[in-house]
Amino acid sequence: MDEFGGQTIIFQMKLELIKKLPTEGAIVFVIKEGVSLKTHPFLKFLGEEDKKYIETVTNASGASGISNKFLILPSGRKTLIISVPAKDKFTGRKAILSARRVIVAARSEKLAQIVVLLEDFQARTSPQETATMLGTQLEIANFEFVAYKTAPKEGWNFVEEVGVFSKYSLESLRKALEAGKVVGEEVNAARVLSNTPGGDMTPAGLAEAALQAGKKSGFKVTILDEKEITKLGMGGVLGVSKGSVEKPRFIVIEYLRGKKSEKPVVIVGKGVTFDTGGLNLKPTQAIYEMHMDMSGGAATIHILGALARLNVKKNVIGLVPAVENMPSGSSFRPGDLLKSMSGKTIEVTNTDAEGRVILADALEYAKRYNPRLVVDIATLTGAALVALGQRASAIFSTSAPVERSLRAIGEETGDFVWPLPLWEEYEEDIKGMFGDFANSGKSRWGGAIEGAVFLRQFIRDKEGNDAYPWVHLDIAPRMTSVDGEFLAKGAAAPSVALLTQFLREY
Ligand code: BES
Ligand code: ZN
Ligand code: ZN
Repeated sequence: MDEFGGQTIIFQMKLELIKKLPTEGAIVFVIKEGVSLKTHPFLKFLGEEDKKYIETVTNASGASGISNKFLILPSGRKTLIISVPAKDKFTGRKAILSARRVIVAARSEKLAQIVVLLEDFQARTSPQETATMLGTQLEIANFEFVAYKTAPKEGWNFVEEVGVFSKYSLESLRKALEAGKVVGEEVNAARVLSNTPGGDMTPAGLAEAALQAGKKSGFKVTILDEKEITKLGMGGVLGVSKGSVEKPRFIVIEYLRGKKSEKPVVIVGKGVTFDTGGLNLKPTQAIYEMHMDMSGGAATIHILGALARLNVKKNVIGLVPAVENMPSGSSFRPGDLLKSMSGKTIEVTNTDAEGRVILADALEYAKRYNPRLVVDIATLTGAALVALGQRASAIFSTSAPVERSLRAIGEETGDFVWPLPLWEEYEEDIKGMFGDFANSGKSRWGGAIEGAVFLRQFIRDKEGNDAYPWVHLDIAPRMTSVDGEFLAKGAAAPSVALLTQFLREY
């Protein structure tokens, strides 16, 4: 799926730390409100005439408002002036948006080559943190899903080269910038998988994508087919996939570059390649973007891709149950009782609550790795969208320190998460009538929490204790980009940047 009609899907952008201003390329000034452009370090590289011109045109007392200005200087040099909020309002969040805005503005002026100043994007962050942020955000802003579009005669309009100038000349800065870019590339690769239509991105297609990513980035991928899934007793995966002509797959990724004695972290991603809702068929509006219901699976694959490319010395396992949820004569039905791999039975009260059913098997499978932490990533509930809007994924965690850390890293990466509770009281809602657990709640309320407490039943051991510390990320709210985030329409690949950074540190 790398090529379609001969087009490369992901555009290559050159990004490097520079010590001298190149003679080519547009100069980008990022000016905080109330600060005079006169003080910008790039000015000293301009000739007198250019300097005068830029000062008169931009009203040397300081740019005002949040705007972009494009200028061609007397020497012919192109410049972009990006006005951003004042220093005391220039938060990490604003820095992230500013980085993306630079790319969006450059693209709209068709500037293939630009130069930015690292220090312009510093928001109470170290130069290294700023460089990583820049690498990722510039890269993800320079992405658009064009795989199925005919290329225009003049070619696609992307930024080809970004020079990052800094007064610091540390090798660690260059590495941080490069690492950030790698993360951005993996975010984009996950976006390609999610954006690919359901007819082309089937369970087998997702498995193939995992194999390709493993080959490219260097991790081991094993694909379990229907026979092996049956042998394992994964009644949840089998049940959901029954209605589709596309056979299920269970993707196992093993990345073991940590010490032998170190217990692995297991990442589990929901891989529903199309969610029609099954016999509880979704209405027109709700079914529309459901080819992205494998976004958790795509994230899992490309988190591992990022870790491998960054050569992170950890042990991490990725598990992706991949199915298509279809209505047909062979579909699983409301009222069906599915025996999950754990032996616990699932009473299907709604075939549209299929994600938790396949994840139940994956969370059981995770136990064989004796993990030190399991994180599942799933576009699990519309209710998470109702609760949070599109600005944060929901986080549920049995570990308070891990939750705190993920919230902080969310702020650094733009992959925002916000907590909801896992209280025992909610478990009443998902008790089964004829089976152990019902896959949808009895009440109309708290659907995201019901999904989470359902999953929690499957992290428990035979004695009823949690077998491992666990985090559940309901990424449904952030599955697609939001206007004003300066990201292309379509899949946003939430959690790739978040968990890559988390696993580098954890
Ligand atoms: N894939 C959907 C959730 C979803 C909705 C993801 C919107 C992204 C955007 C999930 O499988 C689903 O349909 N959940 C149901 C659960 C309900 C039947 C208990 C929901 O949220 O309505
Ligand atoms: Zn569903
Ligand atoms: Zn779903």
